[in-house]
Amino acid sequence: MKILGLSAGTKNGINDSMCKEALMGARESGADIEFIRLLDLNIKHCTGCVTCSKALISGRGNMCALKDDFDWLFNKMLNADGIVLVSPIFESGTSGIVHTITDRIGPRMDRGINETAKKIAEATGGKAPDERIFKDKVISFMGIGGSDWGSLIQMDHAMLAMSPMWKVIDNDWFKWAKSILTNDKDVIRAHEIGIHIAEAAKDIPNAKYQGKPGVCPHCHSNNFYIVPGTDKAICPVCGLEGKLTVENGSAKVTYPDSQLPLAHDTLSGKFRFKHADDIKNLETKYAKIRKDPAYIAKVNNYKSFISASKPEK
Ligand SMILES: Cc1cc2nc3c(=O)[nH]c(=O)nc-3n(C[C@H](O)[C@H](O)[C@H](O)COP(=O)(O)O)c2cc1C
Repeated sequence: MKILGLSAGTKNGINDSMCKEALMGARESGADIEFIRLLDLNIKHCTGCVTCSKALISGRGNMCALKDDFDWLFNKMLNADGIVLVSPIFESGTSGIVHTITDRIGPRMDRGINETAKKIAEATGGKAPDERIFKDKVISFMGIGGSDWGSLIQMDHAMLAMSPMWKVIDNDWFKWAKSILTNDKDVIRAHEIGIHIAEAAKDIPNAKYQGKPGVCPHCHSNNFYIVPGTDKAICPVCGLEGKLTVENGSAKVTYPDSQLPLAHDTLSGKFRFKHADDIKNLETKYAKIRKDPAYIAKVNNYKSFISASKPEK
């Protein structure tokens, strides 16, 4: 059983150390471990070219148009049974590199799109997505803050797991980074997170979330979009739409039973929203529109209006 530790921090900084502490816990529980510092890699931003989605829905397998170290990382992630991802908190949420990884795996690893792509490949004799994409996996997150600003971190991290449908085991954040390594409680917690992920990886079908219950009873998110002027609360991670109430001074969101099969982190939810079909229909429609002279004239109008400034080389 393999546990991969990913740190988005500076070399030998607090994030690296907390990630390694979790890996020590995982190794104690019998895991083979590997550690990667994300900033050692050359990982470009997703450009939004949608090559990955187009390839999947046209039976050409799972790919990305960008050529950098991402495929190396992608393979390491696919080969692991469990992942511990540790990121510095930047502007209350996760760091840029983790946002980029979330974007790079978003459509490409979406379980629903890949399930649909597998069927398309079977029907057309095309290339099926890599089988490792369909393997269940567990993941835990630690956000490390220099102060106590971190109200977006757990949501950002849970989003990374949502598209591939990896099970989240722990999703914690730690405050006052400079004193963390001298604070036994935090170090012990990182070690425990490592033990939890290794134990979860031994029995993934029965693995369960080990953290504190969140306000969202489905995915444990503590962030919500409140529709203005209503008591409607939408969970930004799993997408469920519920009702916000306050009971004994404590905020609660409850969902009707009909919502649960629609959660974005379930296959029923992914198929219910027919995301793969939407992409296919939109791409087919857009391919036609792009050849229309009226559309070409519109685009040319913007093209000729102003060009983008760039630094001189
Ligand atoms: C650009 C930037 C933004 C930051 N924003 C936050 C923040 O919103 N909340 C917080 O608690 N710490 C914030 N920090 C502090 C970092 O989270 C902290 O320095 C980091 O976790 C230290 O990790 P390292 O020792 O592994 O490099 C920020 C740091 C930087 C550089």
